[in-house]
Amino acid sequence: MKILAIIASPRGMQGNTGRLLDEVISGVEAVGGETEILSLKTLNVQPCVACDVCHTTGICNINDDYELIKEKLLACDGFILASPNYIWSVSAQMKALFDRCNGLIHCMALEGKYAAMVETSGGGEDEEVLAYMSRFANTLGANSVGGIGSAIAGIRTFPNEEILFTKARSLGQELCQSITDKRVYAEQDGFRAEFKSRMSGLVDMMQEYWPFEREHWAKKLAS
Ligand SMILES: Cc1cc2nc3c(=O)[nH]c(=O)nc-3n(C[C@H](O)[C@H](O)[C@H](O)COP(=O)(O)O)c2cc1C
Repeated sequence: MKILAIIASPRGMQGNTGRLLDEVISGVEAVGGETEILSLKTLNVQPCVACDVCHTTGICNINDDYELIKEKLLACDGFILASPNYIWSVSAQMKALFDRCNGLIHCMALEGKYAAMVETSGGGEDEEVLAYMSRFANTLGANSVGGIGSAIAGIRTFPNEEILFTKARSLGQELCQSITDKRVYAEQDGFRAEFKSRMSGLVDMMQEYWPFEREHWAKKLAS
């Protein structure tokens, strides 16, 4: 079982988010999951330029590391999104990746996959950042198994750390278990169904301009 972890802290795995992500990864590996970490600190993901080429051809026109990340997302069984809280949201590095995934979102290309979220903050609002990342996973078609977030108590330390780390390891295990069991997260089905109708409708409206996505939806709706 392949789990891809994407971390979007400029401190890479050396920061607070990396410390918490380490525990989630321990949970994944404890139940036999194979993990790969991609750090947006070292990868180059430029902001989207709204050229619409991804909708037309399925391939982004910007020559950087996005296509590599996309292929890894398409190939994994589950993924973890890890970001520090930057002004009540994800870091700019993570937001750039989210925007570049617009073609994947139009196709809801990660349907059937499972995702977990990791976030750390200086002082709170963890839930809203986790909810945002969860919603992103849902728009890709994936199931969100949940998230873990915490304010910090110092550099790479957290309040009630033992309890937090136990929960983080459980989240990693739950991610793998959900994949094995093909677990249904019924509370997310309504949003996904509505979004599916919205995306297939959008692509239908733009079918003359977006042949790649038109073909994608034709196949998806026929299967
Ligand atoms: C540009 C910037 C914006 C931040 N904005 C917030 C914020 O809105 N709320 C908050 O609680 N912490 C905020 N923080 C603190 C970080 O979320 C926190 O230190 C986090 O644990 C850093 O993770 P890292 O060490 O993995 O980079 C901000 C930090 C930076 C550098």
